[in-house]
Amino acid sequence: MDIRVEPLPDDRKKAKVADETKLGFGRVFTDRMLLAEWKSGQGWVDARIEPYAPFVLDPACLVFHYSQEIFEGLKAYKWADGSIALFRPEMNARRFNLSAERLCMPDVPEDLFIGGIEELVRLEQDWIPTSDGTSLYIRPAMIAVEPVLGVKPSDHFYFYVILSPVGAYYAAGFNPVKILVEDKYVRAVPGGTGEAKTGGNYASSLKAGLEAKKKGYDQVLWLDGVHRRYIEEVGAMNMLFAYEDRIVTAPLTGSILNGVTRDSTLKLAAKLGMKIEERLIDINELMADVRSGKVKEAFGSGTAAVITPVGVLCYKDEVVQVGDGGVGLITQRLYDTLTGIQYGRIADEFGWVRKI
Ligand code: COI
Repeated sequence: MDIRVEPLPDDRKKAKVADETKLGFGRVFTDRMLLAEWKSGQGWVDARIEPYAPFVLDPACLVFHYSQEIFEGLKAYKWADGSIALFRPEMNARRFNLSAERLCMPDVPEDLFIGGIEELVRLEQDWIPTSDGTSLYIRPAMIAVEPVLGVKPSDHFYFYVILSPVGAYYAAGFNPVKILVEDKYVRAVPGGTGEAKTGGNYASSLKAGLEAKKKGYDQVLWLDGVHRRYIEEVGAMNMLFAYEDRIVTAPLTGSILNGVTRDSTLKLAAKLGMKIEERLIDINELMADVRSGKVKEAFGSGTAAVITPVGVLCYKDEVVQVGDGGVGLITQRLYDTLTGIQYGRIADEFGWVRKI
């Protein structure tokens, strides 16, 4: 698909963050963005890369009222030799269209999704930070922009991509976080939108997140919405537990996100000789296994979170430390291997890296 590139006047160029250690996550945006429109009867039209700017939208647009919205998250890495790599963008493109299907939105063709990202990142490559642990976070999204108050799928959509140079997602960096197992609110139920990457899932998680923060926890771990018993995910990451010889994680039953980092981590762990168990994990069994030391390590996986060690779990007022509460050997090894491939320090035997 043809993507028009509009000029970037000098007065629209922003100053870059001088100290990359202060980037944080998702607060700074680059000079340009990609925007394409889908109109009923016409399909995708007018794909262009233009100076980054606010949208002017009618307050009646469907996205503002009924949350017809989806998004994705992936990263671009600058290698030591100056080349640029994306990590498994095909998985994001596929998941985006699964989310689109669930939310009654149009399919975005790969040449627009991946081709558009590649072109945009190429133009904005000077924005890719190079300090340890930094990257260029890529946020594709689609919103419903038909101005109408009846509840129905929109006849007009914006697909857009913005870029943000980022450091670690959690302020603590690669250090263990504290997780509260949520037993009051639920995130998803079978048949719901749990496996779609749609804003509503995140909006409905805010209250539990705030209550957890007040108690001193970084995030909540969701339980299944029916039995309130089986581990699901932590909103911004999937959860994995390392026993002596195996990694255990929740299965993809439709109510959790099929994480790109989750899938990559499982494949790396299998390659390191660990057994992989994707199965229902009863929270009571998990707490007993953490208490007894059978669970050696726990960590989350996500594009933003990368691999984040978990040092403490709390369920129904019982607080347990995972292992010695620090960063375990398996977590460290998986983190080093994954980021080694992403930053080009380790050969990619899986065909995950896409150079642009
Ligand atoms: C990502 O990891 O890319 C996500 O979309 C999670 C988001 C909550 C930051």
